[in-house]
Amino acid sequence: MNHESSALLQVRDLCVDFKLRTGPLPAVRHVSFDLAKGERMGLVGESGAGKSVTGFALLNLVSKPGHIASGSILFEGQDLVALSPEAMRQIRGNRIAMIFQDPMMTLNPVLTIGTQMVETLQAHFPMSTAEAEAWAREKRRQVAIPSPEKGRRQ
Ligand SMILES: Nc1ncnc2c1ncn2[C@@H]1O[C@H](COP(=O)(O)OP(=O)(O)OP(=O)(O)O)[C@@H](O)[C@H]1O
Ligand SMILES: [Mg+2]
Repeated sequence: MNHESSALLQVRDLCVDFKLRTGPLPAVRHVSFDLAKGERMGLVGESGAGKSVTGFALLNLVSKPGHIASGSILFEGQDLVALSPEAMRQIRGNRIAMIFQDPMMTLNPVLTIGTQMVETLQAHFPMSTAEAEAWAREKRRQVAIPSPEKGRRQ
């Protein structure tokens, strides 16, 4: 842990491989960057360059046959690579959130948006369903979703 750095996030030498039958496919190779609180960073690269896999790695969401082969991801000095699944669940969707590339594939089409928002809120905060619904409705209104009251829980 580097106490001298003001970085909220320090990624060091991150490598992600996909274990294929033909051998390991290196998807992310030796990526390092720092991000300070309030700072924004864009990752630019051609399709298949590893932008999404880098994002998935930050949330420990690289799924098989992929795995983080080496490197560290320090968030507030804590290495996310070494975190237990339960400890990672406390951070994911709470301290670190992700807007997935294809929302049509990542939101469940058979559940209303309200149900999915309430589920996430109640996973992290001690909220009643009514409180969570009100909060979610207000957020839908703030982002100008038409008829924000319609996304209510089923
Ligand atoms: N499940 C998987 N199995 C095998 N290889 C994968 C898998 N997911 C990603 N890859 C490989 O990892 C590399 C990086 O993919 P990634 O999705 O991160 O690219 P990207 O930069 O986000 O591209 P795009 O701009 O198209 O979104 C690619 O070479 C891809 O083939
Ligand atoms: Mg992508």
